[in-house]
Amino acid sequence: MKTDLIARTAEFVREKFLYEGSGHDWEHIRRVWQVARALAHDTPAADPSITELGALLHDVADWKFHGGDEEAGPRAARAWLVSQQAEESVIQAVETIIREVSFKGVGVATPMSTVEGQLVQDADRLDAIGAIGVARAFAYGGHKGRPLHDPTIAPVEHATFASYKQNVAPTINHFYEKLLHLRERLHTPAARRVAEQRHAFMETFLAQFLREWEGEDLLA
Ligand code: ADP
Ligand code: NI
Repeated sequence: MKTDLIARTAEFVREKFLYEGSGHDWEHIRRVWQVARALAHDTPAADPSITELGALLHDVADWKFHGGDEEAGPRAARAWLVSQQAEESVIQAVETIIREVSFKGVGVATPMSTVEGQLVQDADRLDAIGAIGVARAFAYGGHKGRPLHDPTIAPVEHATFASYKQNVAPTINHFYEKLLHLRERLHTPAARRVAEQRHAFMETFLAQFLREWEGEDLLA
């Protein structure tokens, strides 16, 4: 029924994000879409179309790139879906997913009010960890002009969204401030299973990075 709308939305998002350089590019969205679709397939309570549209549109206008405006994403998704004559109930479901999906700091609870949102959030978070997660973190840090690492700046486990939003710490800190916490914050058993090895890979990466930083591997 909504196959056409999903295909048109995929094309719209692909064109918009093809050459994005901060790690929020089309390939990120494509992976999140595919993983969310697979999770929906195994989750009878989830509406597959809402899940797919939510995944495709989840980063359409991320607050991180719109002056911190959290409503930019839901607004852009609504404008697109209205232009495609989508049903109001579908538009509202997608807006809710986008509003709730983002990580907002270790100390900030971000419950997902819908099962489709849980699947999109799991898929988005799986793409933020593991080897791809490492690559995306440094792509984002480079895009923002941040240093890789600075041992004099300790990571902070942000307790408010405002403080998380304003953070400009080196990229290594982001692992302690977000990425190493994602494994504990997944909803589906399938995503949790995948997260185990991706999490272990990040720990190996960090240990090796810090050894090289100190030149410890040269002395071994
Ligand atoms: P979320 O919706 O949870 O914010 P996104 O899908 O928008 O997640 O993607 C966030 C991506 O950007 C992740 O891969 C994450 O590592 C990267 N990122 C966000 N903030 C930072 C940061 N301060 N330093 C490094 N990478 C970051
Ligand atoms: Ni994303």
